[in-house]
Amino acid sequence: MSETLNFNPWLPNNDLLRVFDWREVFGNANPVELELGAGDGGFILEYAAGHRQRNFVAVERLKGRVNKIAGRGGRRGLANLRALRLQSEYVVARMCPPASVSVVHIMFPDPWPKRRHFKFRLIQPEFLAAARRVLADGGVVRLTTDHEEYFQWADKIWSSSAGWKNLGAWNADDDPKSDFQRQFEAEGKPVFRCQWQRL
Ligand SMILES: C[S@@+](CC[C@H](N)C(=O)[O-])C[C@H]1O[C@@H](n2cnc3c(N)ncnc32)[C@H](O)[C@@H]1O
Repeated sequence: MSETLNFNPWLPNNDLLRVFDWREVFGNANPVELELGAGDGGFILEYAAGHRQRNFVAVERLKGRVNKIAGRGGRRGLANLRALRLQSEYVVARMCPPASVSVVHIMFPDPWPKRRHFKFRLIQPEFLAAARRVLADGGVVRLTTDHEEYFQWADKIWSSSAGWKNLGAWNADDDPKSDFQRQFEAEGKPVFRCQWQRL
């Protein structure tokens, strides 16, 4: 598919020692935003289409899902979007240059509701340290979830980590909805959101 495009919708995941040079990846110096656990791309495909002056990387570990993002992004000519099939934690900790990302979007992360599985949750002190390293000054992490207990867990971790400011919820009325968001809203479930800024 990429032969027929003037850009490759994929970021390579075969060199785990690579640190991406965003200017080289996108061919411009526009701000870079990540979506971690992007699912089928319901949010990021629309968001990237609506913000062509920003660059986006959709990180997703499941092949079928990330294939959809790359395929749809390519067909829609979204030269500002790349798909990357890897673990979010690794991408943030190892593959992003320091101070190179303006926004990290996390939409409906797997909540791992059982106590013995809390260790699998994305939001952990180590993740915050890694996110803080890759965010540019004033950059933010935006979390949206239906899971109130996970939301409180995340808030507690952010509150006890130095170098962050809680900016509260943002106005997401004009933001595209993710696939899980559509599903939860259709079921009438409340959605919790907060953004934390790197100081
Ligand atoms: C509940 S779904 C939400 C998908 C999408 N963000 C949405 O709101 O529609 C969580 C997604 O995160 C992905 N995921 C879970 N853990 C991940 C990890 N460590 N790295 C990358 N993706 C992950 C899952 O495969 C799944 O697609």
